[in-house]
Formats: sequence, C-alpha cells, structure tokens
Amino acid sequence: MVRTVIVGTGCHLPARVLTNQDLEKMVDTSDEWITTRSGIKERRISSKDEPCSFLATQAAKKALDMAGIKAAELDMIIVCTLTPDMLMPTAACLVQKNLGAERAAAFDLSAACSGFLYGLATADNFIRNNINFKILVIGAEVLSCRVNWKDRNTSVLFGDGAGAVVVTGRNGRRGILSNHLHADGALWKLLHIPGGGCVSPPSRQMLDDNLQYIHMQGRDVFKLAVRAMEESAREALEANNLSPQDIDLYIPHQANIRIINSIAERLQLPREKVYVNIHKYGNTSAATVPIALDEANREGRIREGDLIMLNAFGGGFTWGASLIRW
Ligand code: COA
Repeated sequence: MVRTVIVGTGCHLPARVLTNQDLEKMVDTSDEWITTRSGIKERRISSKDEPCSFLATQAAKKALDMAGIKAAELDMIIVCTLTPDMLMPTAACLVQKNLGAERAAAFDLSAACSGFLYGLATADNFIRNNINFKILVIGAEVLSCRVNWKDRNTSVLFGDGAGAVVVTGRNGRRGILSNHLHADGALWKLLHIPGGGCVSPPSRQMLDDNLQYIHMQGRDVFKLAVRAMEESAREALEANNLSPQDIDLYIPHQANIRIINSIAERLQLPREKVYVNIHKYGNTSAATVPIALDEANREGRIREGDLIMLNAFGGGFTWGASLIRW
C-alpha cells in the first residue's frame, strides 16, 4: 500500500521577540493575565525583510536538507497561509523562485489555523496517486500585520513563523494513516478579518474602521475549538481502530494552553505525550503544527514507528486531525 511519509521537517522563526512585558507597555494587560489565560510568554515578530515567503523559504530549506532532497526534484509546493506577501502572486510561487524549484507546481492554500492539515491531506492524495511525487507542505504566517496592536483581546495571542515538511511515497505501514477534515462556514463571524477582500476593498474608510485586523469572539471560539478538536481526534482514532492510549505524541494547534489541556484531559493523554511550545511563539495559525512537529522531531521526541496525531482548529471554521505512523 502506498503511504505518504514525512522525510524532512524544518521551521524558521523571526529573530525579534515580543514579550508579555513588552505588551504591558502597549496595551492594558499584564504578564500574569496573558500567562494564566493563554499560556503565552512571548511571540516572534517579522521585520519588513521577513515576509511570509521568506519565513517559508527558510523553513523549507531546513526540511529539504533533512530529507536529502534537492529543490529541483520537487513536484509541488503548497504554502498554507492567510497572510501571503501579496494577493498575487502566491507565496508558494515566491518560495518556488527562492528555492529554484523549477519543476514544482506551486499554490497557496487558505484554511486559517487548520491550513497545514488541509495542505498535508492534499499532498497525501497526490502522493497516493503517484508514489514518486515529492511535495513541500509549508505553514507560514505573518499575523503581526493583521493584529490590531491597540486591541488587548487579540494582540497578546498571535505571532509569526513558519514550519515545513517534505513528503513522498513509500510502500509499507509507515506514513499518514488518514486525514479527517471539517468546516462550518455558518459561524464565520466569530473569527474573521473583514477588510481587504472584495467586500471591503482597501480604502481610507476600511482602515479607519479597523477592518484589516483580526476580529474574534474569544470565549465562543474557545468552546468550539475544544469540542471540534476532540471530536476530530476521536474520529481519526476510530477510523484506524485505535484508542487515545495508542498515541505516542499529540501535536495540537497552539492557540491557548487551556484549550490544549482541556482536550488532553478529555482524551486522557498524559502531559508527556502532549507537545507544547505556545509559551515561545503564541498562535502562529497555519504554522503552529509544522513548527511543533519540527521541534519535536529535532528534540528526539519522535521515534520510528510512533503514532503521531496532528489536530487543529481555525477560522472559517475549519478543523481536522491527521494520524501518522512515523
Ligand atoms: N489583558 C487583560 N485583560 C484582558 C485581556 C488582556 N490581554 N484580554 C481580555 N481581557 C479582559 C476582557 O476584557 C474581560 O474583561 P471583562 O470581564 O471586564 O469584560 C476579561 O479579560 C475576560 O475576558 P474573556 O474573554 O472572558 O477571557 P477568557 O478567559 O475567555 O480568555 C481568550 C480570552 C481570548 C484568551 C480565550 O477566550 C481564548 O483563547 N479563546 C480562543 C482564541 C483562539 O484560540 N483563537 C484562535 C483560534 S484558531
């Protein structure tokens, strides 16, 4: 049976660190509030020289290096993002140019914080059709350009960064076991960026109304995230006749430590099986899962044969889970 295997991982974070203490000087908040309510201590912020495609390219180079695959061998590049450099071209085309991946098709995929899971599932389907395909899947975000730095409800939560994987096909039991993707557009207003699209194109009025920024009903999003992530995690396990006890490492979207802890408790996962790096980077949307996967991989937290679960939830709403036999 052809399975999609992850043969390389990489991540890249901007150098600039914005701490909770820095935020105390910008909005009416405190390190204590941010830490206890979200688990975040600091986040990274891109400079003008570090747009989405730059972060994505740096993460991709590390993943290609680990995979021992040259950019020229790539068949496809998928950049999962809601903050591309420009509306056109895609960030993926800029990454293709930066890497010199001349043979690769390239496109962006937009599914907010679940973007990487949607991208991985897309790559998985291409590879099941062609075992020799080599695909780069990247989650990359510069959310700092969509955050209202005067709004304490949202500014403390988000950050910038990128994570990448290289996937290809192999015969055997290792690889992606299944992907489970979901969406519910009916609740889109609870988390959205109203301005900059064709409904509210860029204009002085749009900027004056702050429509270019993330708008969020945090408490509602919190409850939905816990429920949807738990349900999709259980769905993935049931589809493979597995139980939560079989998971060796659970890598959830890093949006709030209380969301992560609630799901871990519901699935009865011990702390050491749950990967957490939210304290360092905050919520980097589509980048949280591949950044965490790369850090876990490089820290030696993942061994061959381990069962890895990826689980995410984001604007749209979108959510899902992927199970991987490493
Ligand atoms: N510093 C200090 N106080 C803050 C604050 C901040 N940065 N942000 C909000 N507050 C205040 C609120 O104004 C509110 O005050 P009030 O009761 O006087 O109105 C109070 O803190 C409690 O707000 P509430 O929204 O109930 O807090 P919460 O416990 O739900 O935590 C979030 C807020 C945003 C951290 C939490 O709801 C969350 O993480 N939601 C999910 C967000 C998310 O994951 N989004 C992305 C999904 S991919």
